[in-house]
Amino acid sequence: MHRVTLIEGDGIGPEVTGAVVKILAAAGAPIEWERVPAGQTAYELVGNPLPDAVIDSLKRNRVGLKGPLGTPKGGGFRSANVGLRQSLRLSVGWRPVKSLPGIRSRYDNVDLVVLRENTEGLYAGIEHAIGQDTVVSLKLSSRDAALRIARWAFEHARAAGRTKITVCHKKSVLPLGDGAFVDAFFEVGKDYPFVEQEEASLDQVCMGLAEDPSGYDMLLLENLYGDILSDLCAGLVGGLGVVPGANVGEHVALFEAVHGTAPDIAGRGVANPLAVLLSALLMIEWMGQRRIADRVRDAVHGVLAEGKVRTRDLGGTADTAEFTQAIIDALEVRA
Ligand code: NAI
Repeated sequence: MHRVTLIEGDGIGPEVTGAVVKILAAAGAPIEWERVPAGQTAYELVGNPLPDAVIDSLKRNRVGLKGPLGTPKGGGFRSANVGLRQSLRLSVGWRPVKSLPGIRSRYDNVDLVVLRENTEGLYAGIEHAIGQDTVVSLKLSSRDAALRIARWAFEHARAAGRTKITVCHKKSVLPLGDGAFVDAFFEVGKDYPFVEQEEASLDQVCMGLAEDPSGYDMLLLENLYGDILSDLCAGLVGGLGVVPGANVGEHVALFEAVHGTAPDIAGRGVANPLAVLLSALLMIEWMGQRRIADRVRDAVHGVLAEGKVRTRDLGGTADTAEFTQAIIDALEVRA
């Protein structure tokens, strides 16, 4: 058994992570969950949205699954999501974007990986006001962070059989910061001559993705560009409800869906657990359990392709429990 940290999250979090726990148990995944509260739930329990117990558990187990987190109202709290990324130095935002059978979207056969530097750029949060009317927001770009994410990108390309990485930038307007990000990419790339390497302006890439995503394989971006472009890419395959994600550091990897707490449907038992489930499958692959991940993915694809049991956000009528049971039934058929 492997111990894995589970942050059930707020809003629909407990419903969607609960579904995933059931499906992985049915698939025989050798996981023992260590549950720790964060976000709004933790704030209500202990007055802190990111208690030390969460960080300690992740540092101990090295791997975790997280539902969406709400930020307590009233101010004074930084987002627990940002706090987790910064405290654990989860510098790689990893989002594979792949078409799913039976999910209607603009393109078929999309298969992209978006990698985002998670800790710097404008999200470093360095801002100050000058007088009454002007604010300066600084964009942080360090060579270390750029080298680290570039190395991760090339290692991932090699391990996952990817053939090309496109580093995206706006160096025409930010020649120093974005220029250094691109330079670091090509510097690391010298060690990987077998991976095709290109640079492209972010605006060109946005247009290219809208016209024909098959021209890209892996996309590497700094924080803000990556945040925006990864949602654009999710839109190519059916939206945020169907793409998995992970935040990965040198010592800890935290897997999570990219959607939020969905307060409008929380507690009604109708949320779609697919995004958290796909994130959990990435996680068990990451832990070396590829056979189990493939089996569950096969069952999910079967249910989606058949199209009889779908949650409402995907145009169906099923609730969370029915969709979960359909996947468990499909697993049993494939056993
Ligand atoms: P949201 O993703 O929670 O909801 C947007 C729309 O998508 C809603 O109509 C919702 O019902 C629907 N939706 C989202 N996930 C769904 C699912 N699994 N199944 C079916 N429908 C789903 O985004 P919103 O409303 O902007 O944010 C709500 C809260 O979530 C905020 O407090 C925000 O800070 C937090 N949030 C947390 C994130 C995280 O922890 N990673 C990411 C994004 C938002």
